[in-house]
Amino acid sequence: MGTPHIGAAPGDFAPLVLMPGDPRRARRIAETFLADARLVTDVRGVLGYTGTHRGEPMSVLASGMGIPSVSIYATELFRHYGVRRIVRVGTAGAIPHTVSLRDVVIASAAHTDSSVSGLLVNGVSLSLTPSYRLLRAAADAAGETTADVAAERGGGVVHIGPVFTSDHFYLDRPAVFDALEGRGTLAVEMEAAGLYAVAGSEGGEALAVLTASDHVRTGEALTAEARETCFDRAVRIAAAALLG
Ligand code: ADE
Repeated sequence: MGTPHIGAAPGDFAPLVLMPGDPRRARRIAETFLADARLVTDVRGVLGYTGTHRGEPMSVLASGMGIPSVSIYATELFRHYGVRRIVRVGTAGAIPHTVSLRDVVIASAAHTDSSVSGLLVNGVSLSLTPSYRLLRAAADAAGETTADVAAERGGGVVHIGPVFTSDHFYLDRPAVFDALEGRGTLAVEMEAAGLYAVAGSEGGEALAVLTASDHVRTGEALTAEARETCFDRAVRIAAAALLG
């Protein structure tokens, strides 16, 4: 039963999946956003749950960190569990000063220093992009939630644009961030490009909805508690996009 990395039985996952990086966040999303959630896999401590959201079957599975890890889980979900849509909900480092901590960044493209963009089609550096349908649904949902969330919490903007998916968390190369910022890149994280590449190869749909948890220019960072509260907003947008 299951795949090399997922212990669930066939049919245990819904076609719609939320994908945070952190397994504890997967549990929290299941407790907060899913009704009647049940644990369907815990191989290697990577937790997956299935329940319903607004009456529709929906699952959550952690991805772990980095392109290799997210690629394994996304491939197995699309290929073996009939999953159609995966929306990553994660954190990212803001790059330009126009993106502040707590802001949401919806990744309309993912630049990367990983080999994944060049590996899949010989001689071609692939553009790694989300599903247009999910992107549009997330943009619509963000528009709807912006006013009430701003009133409730005193701000937090939703940005839509390219992100940088890096293989290096401790990347001490300001010139790289300068060049990417000059080309409109909003944030750095470690998984979106891998997820978009897998979705493209497997015929699935994917999107990343990120919360700015730190700033690569100023070094400021959210506390662990603030991360969790802000994160809920991105999950609301992601869940609405999955249903959209
Ligand atoms: N995820 C959250 N913050 C990040 C950063 N600064 N770099 C890479 N991934 C991140």
